[in-house]
Amino acid sequence: MSSTPDIPNIGIPQAPATARVMATIPHYTGAERERVIGRIKHLLTAKDAVLVAHYYTDGDLQMLADQTGGFVSDSLEMARFGNRHPASTLVVAGVRFMGETAKILNPEKRVLMPTLEATCSLDIGCPAKEFKAFCDAHPERTVVVYANTSAEVKARADWVVTSSIALKVAKFLHDTGEKIIWAPDRHLGRYIQKETGADMLLWQASCVVHDEFRAEALFRLKQKHPDAGVLVHPESPEGVIEMADVVGSTTQLIKATTRLTNPEFIVATDNGIFYKMKEVAPGKKFIEAPTGGAGATCTSCAHCPWMAMNGLHNLLGVLETGEHEIHVDEAIRVQALRSTQRMIDFANGLNQGRHKQTD
Ligand code: 13P
Ligand code: SF4
Repeated sequence: MSSTPDIPNIGIPQAPATARVMATIPHYTGAERERVIGRIKHLLTAKDAVLVAHYYTDGDLQMLADQTGGFVSDSLEMARFGNRHPASTLVVAGVRFMGETAKILNPEKRVLMPTLEATCSLDIGCPAKEFKAFCDAHPERTVVVYANTSAEVKARADWVVTSSIALKVAKFLHDTGEKIIWAPDRHLGRYIQKETGADMLLWQASCVVHDEFRAEALFRLKQKHPDAGVLVHPESPEGVIEMADVVGSTTQLIKATTRLTNPEFIVATDNGIFYKMKEVAPGKKFIEAPTGGAGATCTSCAHCPWMAMNGLHNLLGVLETGEHEIHVDEAIRVQALRSTQRMIDFANGLNQGRHKQTD
């Protein structure tokens, strides 16, 4: 069932153009870059801080996280990492919901972000007030929200999921007879619904980056590259997902580059992921899946404008000043912890073989 008659129309969020965001990031000379990197390394140790970065962030930030005992990963593993690392400060390079999730799970730690302006179109597209009213209108349904939401939306949910675990949680709920409210990403929701057969009411927000991938252009590109594997993040439109060899979270797509034998891959997700893909599969070629295209309606061109706000300059700034700290209202945090911890416990259960693996 996919009827969505009473879902409020909150419109398409305005995203800044990525090219314009990138133009505001300082370009260092080689020597300046080395100096800034050295200073960041020093401050991470001096301030008992650890850097956790998403795969979509700038390659220098990913390199720094790897070299300093931090972590580069997808949103689920970023959330889990904060729990198991002893540092008193987590510096989260990514978008705001990632910093908030870290704070929800680690209230005793200081959580800093290079910028607090880095949001997400899914978070903007699911305002807490409208979402709560929607849930209240369907009290018989289990509320499952994507991690790309505010702490307040998580507080109203029964479950939080990320793309790496969403299918497994939905299947588990479906198998136990639960009907689901899913928010906010409509493409991911539709994909899960189709894969699991679960009864889901879908909120209608989307990701400004993945929504731009185009199935027809992908079809033509595939014909030019017959040996290429097609790797697709499930926030992409249905026609794009249908052409995928692998559909999965950022980590799952990176793993596919070494598991599959294809010499090249067409990748339908943020191109920040190429940094890690090239590192783990150095002999292979990576091609961006086609988007609406520069000059057309494309504002992101396969790179998230909010992820692009993270750079060496503001990472250094936040370590020097301690500003850009994440705070979550304690009552909301306690509520949001229930649904978020449920995901972490479920993921731990999967690792320990308590739930059936579906892939
Ligand atoms: P992952 O959980 O796959 O890293 O995705 C996060 C995200 O924001 C994708 O656009
Ligand atoms: Fe949000 Fe899309 Fe950016 Fe991911 S890529 S943070 S879903 S806007």
